[in-house]
Amino acid sequence: MARVFGSFLLLVLVFPATMATDPSPLQDFCVADLNGQVLVNGFTCKNPNLVQADDFYFGGLRMKGNTSNPVGSKVSTVFVEQLPGLNTLGIAMARVDYEPWGLNPPHFHPRATELFTVLKGTLEVGFVTSNPENRFITKVLQEGDVFVFPMRLVHFQRNIGNTSALAVSTLSSQNPGIVTIANAVFGSKPDISTDILAKAFQSTNDIIETLHLKF
Ligand SMILES: *[C@@H]1O[C@H](CO)[C@@H](O)[C@H](O)[C@H]1NC(C)=O
Ligand SMILES: *[C@@H]1O[C@H](CO)[C@@H](O)[C@H](O)[C@H]1NC(C)=O
Repeated sequence: MARVFGSFLLLVLVFPATMATDPSPLQDFCVADLNGQVLVNGFTCKNPNLVQADDFYFGGLRMKGNTSNPVGSKVSTVFVEQLPGLNTLGIAMARVDYEPWGLNPPHFHPRATELFTVLKGTLEVGFVTSNPENRFITKVLQEGDVFVFPMRLVHFQRNIGNTSALAVSTLSSQNPGIVTIANAVFGSKPDISTDILAKAFQSTNDIIETLHLKF
């Protein structure tokens, strides 16, 4: 009995039931083979002898993102898909551009905490804690200010200035994921039934159908 319990304890210590972050690398690097046929948690490694400097490089953030869309913001991600050298390293980033009054709408990252830095402009940011409190924590950020959005909590940013704004996010996963609340709830494929959403939102079928059409 003691031995069985000992083995169980060892298992629990070696494989914690919930990992709070990406697993640690077991080698210097493991550049993602994005075309690999083997499905693992992450990507399989390219042959390290064939790895080049460009595998650790992404040049796609020089230009402003295209903010001509209904929310007036654009998130340009540098996740493992864009930068294969991030594979197994537990980190990623994004550039976020905002038109005047542009909004990066409420969303969360299923696998990452986000450290957010304002490079240009004035942004109102906020996140909401889990049930039952659902406390709304919000602040206005100026250039150079830093804010953290804790892992998996719903958050947003809005440009409250008359000029365009720019921010950079660092995220604690090579593949943070983005779940935009409105898209997930009203834009799923296929739709979640109107009557389910009407009840959930204490609303009418008409309002839900209007929202379905928008996403
Ligand atoms: C920006 O996006 C809009 C909407 O998708 C598109 O019409 C426009 O051509 C894009 N502009 C550039 C410079 O790519
Ligand atoms: C932004 O523009 C509006 C309308 O032109 C003006 O009333 C307001 O004072 C401006 N705000 C700032 C911070 O410049």
